[in-house]
Amino acid sequence: MSYRIIIKPSEHVLQVETGETILEAALREGFSMPYGCRNGSCGICKGKIVEGTVHYGNHSEESLTDIEKRNGYALFCCASPLSDLVIECHEISATKGIEIKTLPCRVQKLERIAPDVMILSLKLPANQRLQFLAGQYIDILLKDGKRRSFSLANSPHDDEFLQLHVRNYPGGAFTEYVFNNMKVKDMLRFTGPLGSFFLRDTPEDTGVIFLASGTGFAPIKSILEHIFYQQGTRDTKRKITLYWGVRVKADLYLADFAESWQNQYSNFTFIPVLSEPLESDNWKGRTGLVHEAVMQDFQSLEKCQVYACGAPVMVKAAYHDFINFQHLSKNAFFSDVFTPSTSNPPVS
Ligand SMILES: Cc1cc2nc3c(=O)[nH]c(=O)nc-3n(C[C@H](O)[C@H](O)[C@H](O)COP(=O)(O)OP(=O)(O)OC[C@H]3O[C@@H](n4cnc5c(N)ncnc54)[C@H](O)[C@@H]3O)c2cc1C
Ligand code: FES
Repeated sequence: MSYRIIIKPSEHVLQVETGETILEAALREGFSMPYGCRNGSCGICKGKIVEGTVHYGNHSEESLTDIEKRNGYALFCCASPLSDLVIECHEISATKGIEIKTLPCRVQKLERIAPDVMILSLKLPANQRLQFLAGQYIDILLKDGKRRSFSLANSPHDDEFLQLHVRNYPGGAFTEYVFNNMKVKDMLRFTGPLGSFFLRDTPEDTGVIFLASGTGFAPIKSILEHIFYQQGTRDTKRKITLYWGVRVKADLYLADFAESWQNQYSNFTFIPVLSEPLESDNWKGRTGLVHEAVMQDFQSLEKCQVYACGAPVMVKAAYHDFINFQHLSKNAFFSDVFTPSTSNPPVS
């Protein structure tokens, strides 16, 4: 049985087929909503059910509380309709027209850049290109039908190879394969581009703060390279700051890159932050939690946009503290949360 959904405020109409979630139907019909993990963990797809009833699906308690359900909220990545619906969400026009494709690719290069991080370069078939927005991710399709999400670290203007920054998660089905068995010329399949973590339009006087933890640097690298590519040698008032939080110095696996941007672009500042520096690191820079470094440097985030990416605990703390204590608008916080992607559903 299919149901009809009206999206407010756009008044777009969507048909949801049996077994589909609201987000799956929206993506299939070419409408884009904010979303990240697609498995009920990150909360980015939360929106309001104005009329009608839904089955809420499997999700973490934290990303949708019972109080929120009582107030009419649902996670569109796991909710499926039980009646016709009217829902409320901010549609995203930037991804409209970008086709989500399933493609084969070949491993072109494997570079172990840090003890726990592998940079993977993937080559598409000669007649294929992947159109994407800087900051989006792809799902690697495993042979057993499972999916693993990884952000694209290259920029859309530099798309000869797709670049992924893969952290080694002990016991991880895909990442252990990457670190122990993967070889150049291995074939993979993936679906993408996915997600809504990309740069929004901003007036030039809006400060842009990027907050990365660990391999959360990957999509931010893509966005920054694209900004600098478009900026060229032009002067701009837009102040951009990158805070990159890791445990020890060796985890700052592309610090040279970020430092070279700082030398080249006067509107860009790079602030690396170590949470547990080793004595042998001889670290003279910032220490502590990366989002707290932002709070020490900015009295107010009222005129800023924040893009946070990486470990769930970091993104959650940043969202909470910036909105409650630093005057950041909820609409100015964008994130991709690196949750385990064990149960990601397919994208049609
Ligand atoms: C939108 C999105 C983008 C992502 N982009 C990247 C990226 O660019 N680089 C990157 O390194 N990771 C990224 N991730 C995280 C990555 O998809 C997951 O960590 C993935 O589950 C790893 O696959 P695996 O098969 O190795 O581990 P799994 O088989 O899924 O998990 C195996 C074990 O490792 C643990 N584990 C797996 N992932 C994590 C995690 N993130 N945190 C804590 N414990 C974990 C699990 O709990 C489990 O015990 C992204 C996740 C999302 C949702
Ligand atoms: S909870 Fe729905 S996209 Fe993450």
